[in-house]
Amino acid sequence: MAPPADLRAWLALLEREGELVRVTAEVDPDLEVTEIVDRTVKAGGPALLFEHPKGSGHPLLINQFGTERRMCLAFDVQSLDDVAKKLEDVLEMQPPQGLVEKVRGLKKLKSIADSLPKTVRSGPVHDVVLTGDDVDLGVLPIQRCWPGDPAPFITLPAVITKDPRDGTRNVGMYRMQVRDRASTFMHWQLHKDGRADWLATEEGRIPVAVALGLDPVTCYAASAPLPKHLDELMFAGFLTGRPVELVKCRTIDLEVPANAEIVLEGYVDKDEPLGTEGPFGDHTGYYSPAEPFPVFHVTALTLRRDAIYPSIVVGKPPAEDAWLGKATERIFLPAVRQMVPEIVDYDLPVAGAFHNCVIVSIRKRFPGHARKVMHAIWGLGMLSLTKSIVVVDEWVDVHDYEEVFFRVGANVDPKRDVELAEGPLDHLDHAPTLQFLGGKLGIDATHKGPAEGTREWPEEIVMRDDIRELVDRRWHEYGIDVGSASGDGHSGRRLRQLLRR
Ligand SMILES: Cc1cc2nc3c(=O)[nH]c(=O)nc-3n(C[C@H](O)[C@H](O)[C@H](O)COP(=O)(O)O)c2cc1C
Repeated sequence: MAPPADLRAWLALLEREGELVRVTAEVDPDLEVTEIVDRTVKAGGPALLFEHPKGSGHPLLINQFGTERRMCLAFDVQSLDDVAKKLEDVLEMQPPQGLVEKVRGLKKLKSIADSLPKTVRSGPVHDVVLTGDDVDLGVLPIQRCWPGDPAPFITLPAVITKDPRDGTRNVGMYRMQVRDRASTFMHWQLHKDGRADWLATEEGRIPVAVALGLDPVTCYAASAPLPKHLDELMFAGFLTGRPVELVKCRTIDLEVPANAEIVLEGYVDKDEPLGTEGPFGDHTGYYSPAEPFPVFHVTALTLRRDAIYPSIVVGKPPAEDAWLGKATERIFLPAVRQMVPEIVDYDLPVAGAFHNCVIVSIRKRFPGHARKVMHAIWGLGMLSLTKSIVVVDEWVDVHDYEEVFFRVGANVDPKRDVELAEGPLDHLDHAPTLQFLGGKLGIDATHKGPAEGTREWPEEIVMRDDIRELVDRRWHEYGIDVGSASGDGHSGRRLRQLLRR
């Protein structure tokens, strides 16, 4: 098997796997869908295809990414770490020794070469092409998500632009508030690459295409924090093992995925005054305030026959976007380790909305090492926007929040082990006094010692291996029914391994 080739193959897979419910009742995209989806997501429920959204002839798909299992189905893997492994193999390529390694190396290089998007002559996204006065966004079941939202918002778009200076493509996921039949706002935030393309436009129009209803991996790729010069469509091709097929737009000089359900072609005019976008019930759990953003004018609306409209609701975590974020956390770990090799693992808690908190475990080798890692993270791509960092030792399971809390409680002297800094913050962070800039908190919860100015560090309590093995062997004799009763968790096992070295 391979990851699904388009949205319809994805829907068929979800249906076969019992992961999709078709809702036949008429449901209103104005707030009602949100309440249904919020309950479904928080219960770990299925993807939903609303077949009769009120006021539209197009079905609305939502919650396609809402569980770890569906995320793994999307990538056709057992665990999201398997996707990371594929990336790690390429990132860690060394000059090959011997014939076998050379052949293996060539295969890896070929997998990169095969990832390049491929332009084809035609595609189903042009089954229906509407231009000029025929463009009407009102035909789509676009959701108004929360009561304070002033209008419907397109929430799951892949926004395609090109850097006017060097022609490199960018694909980003930026919400779009509907203004009228043929225009929306374009919410590319301060630190985002689509905005950089727009700002690099000297004057006049920058062409913009918006693809809706893609295969799940390409859709995910739009949300991935790749460096600006890397094409998200190539990344998607690398992850699926299949080049993304593109067709030329009809009214602008850009290309779009041939199998998209819906495409909006258009432009943002550098010379047009900004409008007031928002407020919007955001993934922070609060409304982002209204702010000035540019207007996107739609010159063509192109559709597959019977096009399906995809949507997502963000809000107080956990929401569906949690799993898009977790995919990024896992997939980008090898790239993070390339920059900061002492990092063993990291976790961005969903409740921390991905920019508020990172827990990171490190192979600590010298005094001040935890602080070195904090500052490295505060200098690394989109992770630089992280507000708080907790650093733990390599044997601590960063995904076990009880365990992390234990380390913070047990190992931290707040006067000595807290690093306060200042730096750039997420566009949506409402807590700092100034927008975009504010305080950073680092907590060093690693073991320390006299080299870092503490008393002798006490020994951590760990049972001897032979006693554990004895109890494992005899467990059934004791008649105690507490599940597998494996004793300590991942961290205990990891610490014992390290002590044995
Ligand atoms: C569901 C969802 C909605 C998002 N909405 C926005 C948004 O409105 N504006 C924005 O700048 N980033 C938004 N993001 C985050 C960006 O998609 C993400 O930072 C991405 O890496 C941006 O691409 P870029 O690095 O090419 O700019 C959203 C992410 C998700 C998963």
